[in-house]
This record gives sequence, structure tokens and C-alpha cells, in this order.
Amino acid sequence: MTARIVFRVSVLALLLYSAVTQKCPAGGRSESSIVGWMLRGHVYDTLLAELPFTCVFKCREDNRCQSFNWVISLLTCEFNNRTKEARPEDFIPNQDRSYYRRDLQRVPLGSIQELPAETCDEIKRSEGHAVSGRYWFSTIKSGTSVLAYCNMETNDIDECSASSPVCDINANCSNTRGSYICTCRAGYTGDGKTCQDIDECGASTPVCDINANCSNTRGSYICTCKSGYIGDGKTCQDSCTHIKSVGKPVIHNSRSYTQGAWMKDPLGIMGPETIFVMVGYGGRKVLEEFENMDTFKTGIARKKYVLPYNWDGTGGVVYGPYLYYNREATNYIVKYNLRTEGVEKQISLSGSARVTSYQWGGYSQVDLAVDEQGLWALWGYSGNSNKLRAQMIDVHKGSLTLAWNLNSEVMNSMGNAFVACGVVYCIDDYHSESTTINFAYDTKTGNQWNPNIQFTNQFGYNSMVAYNPRERVLYAWDNQRLVTYPITFKER
Ligand SMILES: *[C@@H]1O[C@H](CO)[C@@H](O)[C@H](O)[C@H]1NC(C)=O
Ligand SMILES: *[C@@H]1O[C@H](CO)[C@@H](O)[C@H](O)[C@H]1NC(C)=O
Ligand SMILES: *[C@@H]1O[C@H](CO)[C@@H](O)[C@H](O)[C@H]1NC(C)=O
Repeated sequence: MTARIVFRVSVLALLLYSAVTQKCPAGGRSESSIVGWMLRGHVYDTLLAELPFTCVFKCREDNRCQSFNWVISLLTCEFNNRTKEARPEDFIPNQDRSYYRRDLQRVPLGSIQELPAETCDEIKRSEGHAVSGRYWFSTIKSGTSVLAYCNMETNDIDECSASSPVCDINANCSNTRGSYICTCRAGYTGDGKTCQDIDECGASTPVCDINANCSNTRGSYICTCKSGYIGDGKTCQDSCTHIKSVGKPVIHNSRSYTQGAWMKDPLGIMGPETIFVMVGYGGRKVLEEFENMDTFKTGIARKKYVLPYNWDGTGGVVYGPYLYYNREATNYIVKYNLRTEGVEKQISLSGSARVTSYQWGGYSQVDLAVDEQGLWALWGYSGNSNKLRAQMIDVHKGSLTLAWNLNSEVMNSMGNAFVACGVVYCIDDYHSESTTINFAYDTKTGNQWNPNIQFTNQFGYNSMVAYNPRERVLYAWDNQRLVTYPITFKER
């Protein structure tokens, strides 16, 4: 066939097709060809075909196909993903082409992902009318088709409703007529399309109190007051102050021994209610454990630990899962593990300890104390003229650390001593019903003073006074009575 014949045949076929489609409008909106016109700029595919019929059928097979241009000289059809109604400005005369609108089952523009629209208006033009709702658009995110709400009255696409978010997940999206605004949420920085977490803890002006730990979180940060401080983290106050007054003793129980020690674990690890009792001050090695105050009063111990060595004095303390006590007739502080029931360490106070004891005697040369800062040993130090030496014990290393030689009375003329909030307090007398706390030394500041705090030895023989930093009371053993003293701290 020559080209001329092909041309004739195709023109003939075209006319025939036009005639058929005009005569048979059944099965949907049919439209005839428009000879001498084309739609420009919306071709997504082409096909070489002898007859435009082939293109008609091919167009029906592709959801994107809205219309096609038949190129007479090339025997080719150009499939368009728009109609001339959608893009009237692109519908132009062309001598070599005819325009065909898809006849059957044309997919409405914007109704499927493969056929996204560019604007709301385009949908209305393409379909004649359209209701507000969700449509697919190619113009919201480049390279992808996303579903978004279209207001057909205002012709505005709500980009914020897009099936794939237009802003960063940590941004607020706000729709505007014709556009949208992304704003990074508090705690994030960026242009809104991408937002980065702000590291508030790394900021040049600290966001937390100087006595707080700062930890960055996504979009925020957490301030936690360091131990010994109270507050919300943005402001922290030293929770420990000086003692203002000590109340009257509260009796909890009694034992037939004049001297002894009783306590709870100030860390609460051994149970917040568990009570430990060391009856007597020498030649003894059975530590009793009671479940709580009720069982303590009935006298039924939950457990009895038989220690490997006798203790001396009444200075033993339970601190976490350990009992610390002065081993009989030695300079050793024994660290006894209550869980494994074995000695973990013996810490030597060297030859300087045990030169003197508290007023009442009873091998009370070495007193152990616990406060908010940790574990302390108090003893009359020969290198300090038998006045008190206070030394901290690193419980993890099991070694002695910071020490202070105090300008207190000599040990054997004081009733007792204890430590609270880093302050060593000495009680003047163990026996007089009315006495005072007449010495205080603040290890944090180095200040020493006579606080002259009233103190009552109600039963006339106070052999043990120890501070419990968890309950913030004094535990004492006063002539067979096991008592606690409430403490009032000064306000800041
Ligand atoms: C529609 O056709 C235009 C023009 O060829 C093309 O750029 C666009 O990607 C097509 N759209 C789709 C969804 O195929
Ligand atoms: C983001 O939206 C929330 C909720 O509507 C609002 O509380 C917050 O202030 C907004 N943040 C910004 C940066 O616009
Ligand atoms: C504060 O941070 C230090 C060091 O990271 C850590 O040892 C301590 O436990 C933290 N304290 C609190 C209260 O989070």
C-alpha cells in the first residue's frame, strides 16, 4: 500500500467511526471526533495504529485515558490524560489531527490515584460539576499523587488533610486559601516541612537549675533535681537544712536491756517497715530482724543473723542490704552482707580509734551514722586530742574518704553524736533528763556553732542516738525504751 492509500483508508475509517459513535450513543456519553483539532500537552502515551478504532479500544483499557489525538499522517494516536473541557486553553486547531474524547467508562478526573488533578477548578471543568470532598492531586507533593479535601465553592485544596502529610510530623499544619503553613511545634526548630528536635540541655542558657540533671527528650526535656535537692528541676533547693528543734521522744517498744541499738534501713532497700535490733553493747553477735512495728512489739523476729564477730558499743547501722558495726576489741568496721550473710569487707580505722568512748562508756568508741550524704564513722581521735573525728565511708569501695577533725568536746564528755544533712551534732549529756545539743559542725560550709537545741533523755540512760534520713527522725535507745524523736528543720 502506498502512503496515499493508507491515508485514504484511515480517513475512511475515521469517518466510519464517527458515524458509528454518533449513531450509537448507548453505554455512556459518546462523542464524535473533532476533525482538525487536538489537545496539546497532555499526552502520556502513543500508539501506532492502522485505524483509530484500535485507539478507542486501547483508550478504554487505561484508566488515565481521557481522550486522544489521532495523527493522520503518522497513523498514530496520542493518548491524553485530560479532556478539552478540563483544559480548554490547550485545545487548538491542527490540520493533521482529530480529537476524540473517550466514549465509555471515562474515569472522573481526580477520582483515582493514577489520574490526579492539579486544581479543584480543573475537576469541575472536566466533570461539568463536582461536589466538595476528597480527590487525588498531583500538585500537593511533587512526584506523588495524594488524596486531599477540595472545597469546590472556594476552589481551595486543604493540603493539611492530605493523605501523605505535607508538614513534618512534629509541625502544625494550617490551611490557607490557595496554600498552607507549616509551623514546627514547641521544642522543634525548622521550616515546618522538616523540624529538628531542639536540644534544650545543650542550650547556652541552662534550662534546668544548676543543681538539676537535664535530659533531652524529643520535643522537650526533663529537669531532675540532684539528690539532696528538692523542687521541680527548674528550681531546686537544698532539701537539707539545719535542725531547728527536736521533739519529745515517742516510745515504740521496750526491751529488758539498758543499752542497745535499733534502726530501719534508711535506703528502704531492706523494706521500709523492717526493723533491726542489736540488743546490748558488748559480747553479743545476734542481729534481729522484725517484719514491722507490730511484730516487733510481739517480739517475734522474722530472722536472726548470727554474725561472725561480736560487736562493740551501740553504733551499728543497717544501710542498704548491709550491716556496718565495730568489731569487738578492734579498729575494724565490719561490712556484713545481710543477703549472703557473709562479711564483705573490714574497714580499718587504724590505731587512732578506740582511745575514748561516749560518756556512758560501754565500748562505744566507734559510732556509725547515716545521713543524706551517706555513711559516716564518728570517733574520738587521738590525733585530735580525743575530740571527735567525722569521716565518710565510700560504701562501694569500702574505704574511708573525707574526714573532719572537729573542735567538739572530748568524746567521753559528750552524750552522743549523729549526722544530719552533712552537719555533725553532739548531745551534751546522756543521762540528764534535760540536756541540749550544744555543738554543730556543718561539713558543707565549715561552720561551727552551738545550736543550743533542747534534748530530752526521758529515761535517763540514752545509749544510742542515730538519724534516719529517710524518715527524718532520730532513733534512740534510752534505758530499755526504744524511742524516736521528731525533728523540725529550719526553713530555707
Ligand atoms: C499526564 O500527562 C502529562 C503530559 O504528558 C504528564 O506530564 C503527566 O505526568 C501525566 N499524568 C499522569 C498522572 O500520568
Ligand atoms: C500546634 O497545635 C496545638 C494544638 O492545636 C497548639 O496547642 C499549639 O500551640 C500549636 N503550636 C504551634 C507552634 O502553632
Ligand atoms: C544526674 O546525673 C548523674 C550523672 O549522669 C547521675 O549519676 C545521677 O544519678 C543523676 N541524678 C539524677 C537525680 O537523675
